[in-house]
Amino acid sequence: MNANKTIITASPEETIQLGARFAAKLNAGDVVALIGDLGSGKTVFVKGMALGLGVKDPLYVNSPSFVILKEYTGKKKLYHFDVYRLDQKGFCETLDHEKYFYGDGITVIEWADKIDLILPEGHVKIKISYEAGDKRSFQFSPPEKYKKIIGDLRKA
Ligand SMILES: Nc1ncnc2c1ncn2[C@@H]1O[C@H](COP(=O)(O)OP(=O)(O)OP(=O)(O)O)[C@@H](O)[C@H]1O
Ligand SMILES: [Mg+2]
Repeated sequence: MNANKTIITASPEETIQLGARFAAKLNAGDVVALIGDLGSGKTVFVKGMALGLGVKDPLYVNSPSFVILKEYTGKKKLYHFDVYRLDQKGFCETLDHEKYFYGDGITVIEWADKIDLILPEGHVKIKISYEAGDKRSFQFSPPEKYKKIIGDLRKA
């Protein structure tokens, strides 16, 4: 069974559409971990998520680097974190993250690999990589709990 799924986009607009289609399937309490180099398209993808959730003015979504968290309201709440400048300890000391991760909205985190130890077990990971030209690949990994179930099945 292929537990991962990779999708390629060829432009920022395609990434926005991908983010929008993806976010429309999410539920309150879902946590999305974005991992990818500087300029790979994390924030563009979040703009798409905002669009998909019906946030007013989704194109004004930008990186919350200096405030760590921005909150948007559409059909559901969207908590947008950027933890580039923080480490795990700093993040935990700065705000009550559990309130968001296990809360009433959808959480998306740029540079989530910096805080991987405190991500909820059921998060969805998306690894964004540069491909030729303006192409970007989005590798979706299912929630860890499903991976574990599949792994256990193989052992049995
Ligand atoms: N296929 C694509 N998908 C997304 N962005 C693209 C694509 N092709 C080109 N771009 C450009 O790449 C840049 C992505 O910027 P963005 O701010 O989303 O990156 P980021 O991963 O959030 O960076 P940072 O780590 O600085 O927060 C934008 O300038 C965008 O126009
Ligand atoms: Mg960004």
